[in-house]
Amino acid sequence: MSSLITEIEDLGKRFAEEIVSLRHPNEILQVKANYLGKKGHLSSILRRMGEMTNEERPKVGQMANSLKGKIEEECRRLLDQLKGQLLDRKTEGERADITLPGRGLPRGHLHPVRQVMEEVEEIFVGIGFQVHEGPEVESDYYNFEALNIPADHPARDMQDTFYVGAPLTRPSATLSLEGRGTKGEGDHGSPYLLRTHTSPVQIHVMERQKPPIQMIAPGAVYRRDSDASHTPMFHQVEGLLVDQGVRFSDLKGILTLFLNEFFGRSVRLRFRPSYFPFTEPSAEVDIGCIFCRGGQRSARTCKVCKKSGWLEVMGCGMVSPAVFRRVGYDLKKISGFAFGMGIERMAMLKLGINDIRLFFENDIRFLRQF
Ligand code: PHE
Repeated sequence: MSSLITEIEDLGKRFAEEIVSLRHPNEILQVKANYLGKKGHLSSILRRMGEMTNEERPKVGQMANSLKGKIEEECRRLLDQLKGQLLDRKTEGERADITLPGRGLPRGHLHPVRQVMEEVEEIFVGIGFQVHEGPEVESDYYNFEALNIPADHPARDMQDTFYVGAPLTRPSATLSLEGRGTKGEGDHGSPYLLRTHTSPVQIHVMERQKPPIQMIAPGAVYRRDSDASHTPMFHQVEGLLVDQGVRFSDLKGILTLFLNEFFGRSVRLRFRPSYFPFTEPSAEVDIGCIFCRGGQRSARTCKVCKKSGWLEVMGCGMVSPAVFRRVGYDLKKISGFAFGMGIERMAMLKLGINDIRLFFENDIRFLRQF
């Protein structure tokens, strides 16, 4: 009879022993179910109430209820405690140390080619030049024909390029200059190609505008070329000035001003006679080698200027009458000059870079230096 009482007492002790070793909420819930669940220890004891005398029964009932309450309360207390500990551990790991210095976002900068291009633009804009852009996919007419480079002209060999299939339907609107007409106008049905120089922009602008013109045209150009000083894509800045009474001395003056500004006032310049089909007379502009200082220092070994002491930086000349005739300008009233330079070459000379391909490898260790 009193065995049920002893059993309940024992059950209480067992529970007290079992509960101390529990470390996880799931374990506690499991133990709670083992004791208080429908098939749990306490229920199986209570199912034997019939064995009790009438006097004993209330006592056993009372004991069972109080054990049940104890187990429930103890389990709840332990669960709360464990949850608290877990939360503490978690927040401890994640807590921010507000005294740490912030993690700055790495800051990018413009590509060296873009930097140099903008520097060139800035100098010319500063002396009154306007910036124009033209399409990179050009017709044969604008890239060669209108610039007095007919088919089979040897000058085309130096500028072998990429052709864009047969005479196409129509380059999209974005490829043509604003305000230009529709299909075929000025294209003369010629095939399309990736422009080999920025000189076609001269033609586009002169077709649209009457003199005076004072413009530069920066942009990408393409040639079938690839070595340490040539990449299939590179950048040029073109210049064109057309007005009444423009002379070669004006060309010299503007380019001297520009090169002094770009390379520094001490740079030496040389205008060397040359040939371009779209300028007459034509010249190439050299600067005194900035690596061997134009022969003053180790010129006999300088690889950059190939021991000459001079570096070629741009082509230029007075706009050829053949070009003016194409765009319908009156040769008796106006004259002008044009020039063109390679931006990568200017950047290499200014920044001391010896391989043009470095610009396009996207190696952050290289780019970071500029
Ligand atoms: N377009 C020429 C080239 O790419 C450069 C040039 C431009 C020469 C304007 C004279 C006048 O080589």
